[in-house]
Amino acid sequence: MKRRVTKAIFPVAGLGTRFLPATKSIPKEIMTLVDRPLIQYAIDEARAAGIKEFIFVTSRGKGALEDYFDHANELEAHLKKSGKEELLETLRSTNMESGAIAYIRQHKALGLGHAVWCARRLVGNEPFAVILPDDVIAAEKPCLQQMVEAYAEVGGNMVAAMEVPMDKASSYGVLDISDDMGAMVSVKGMVEKPKAEDAPSNLAVIGRYILSPRIMQTLNRMKSGAGGEIQLTDAIAEEIHKGDKVYGLRFRGQRFDCGSKAGFLQATVAFGLARDELRDEFQQFLASMLAIRKAAE
Ligand code: UTP
Repeated sequence: MKRRVTKAIFPVAGLGTRFLPATKSIPKEIMTLVDRPLIQYAIDEARAAGIKEFIFVTSRGKGALEDYFDHANELEAHLKKSGKEELLETLRSTNMESGAIAYIRQHKALGLGHAVWCARRLVGNEPFAVILPDDVIAAEKPCLQQMVEAYAEVGGNMVAAMEVPMDKASSYGVLDISDDMGAMVSVKGMVEKPKAEDAPSNLAVIGRYILSPRIMQTLNRMKSGAGGEIQLTDAIAEEIHKGDKVYGLRFRGQRFDCGSKAGFLQATVAFGLARDELRDEFQQFLASMLAIRKAAE
């Protein structure tokens, strides 16, 4: 099995209920973190990791997402004419090569496992990445690139993993570790959203995966699991039982759950403070807000 990963699936067909009413008309992935939509962060990370084919699993109401990847010829011409080279450069950096993006519909939100399965024909017989755009990761070396490099060494299947407080483990897919090698662990089982007392570790899976195409056959037969959804975690766990290797990579970086309000706000602060042109003013504002709150307490 070749160990180069050039295809990535972006499952974006979820209902985004935690962001209602915003997600009534705006796809979650178009929501803006500082000045770019969540999906742009995911695309940039994928490109840095060498991904050439971008497969979106979409659903009804995600038109704005598809439009975002059209080339904005009129806007480009306007910026060029008015000499706004920097903005033009920013805009052009979001352009995708013709034919690099494919859209597949998930007709019903039956779960992440089902969304991935919907892309089976486009994936073919190659290992592929899965990126959940609502997990945004700030990292010196982009998370998927770290994974692609580790995967080139070990193959199998790989998930991004991070330590969480034990009482939070029940919100995640959790790894049952067979061998802890430091940056990487090999995995003997996985449980989606375990009860706190049943969690096999506090090493949680977050939204980056590199998977063998064999998983599509497993997903083919999958029944719904936790929350009544077809879970990707359950399919990966089944691969282990069939004898396939699964590794967890403790990536270096900070992950923000932009699918939740608190996570999105935290990401806005972190990414805002990371921008040279915003830092001073934003930092002063945050300090004064905190001082006002403290004085009021
Ligand atoms: P979430 O668990 O965040 O669900 O899905 P959601 O529907 O997007 O949001 P909430 O919980 O209702 O607020 C994780 C990822 O899996 C995709 C989502 O789009 C998101 O990127 N997904 C989930 C699908 O593509 N299809 C599904 O049936 C479920």
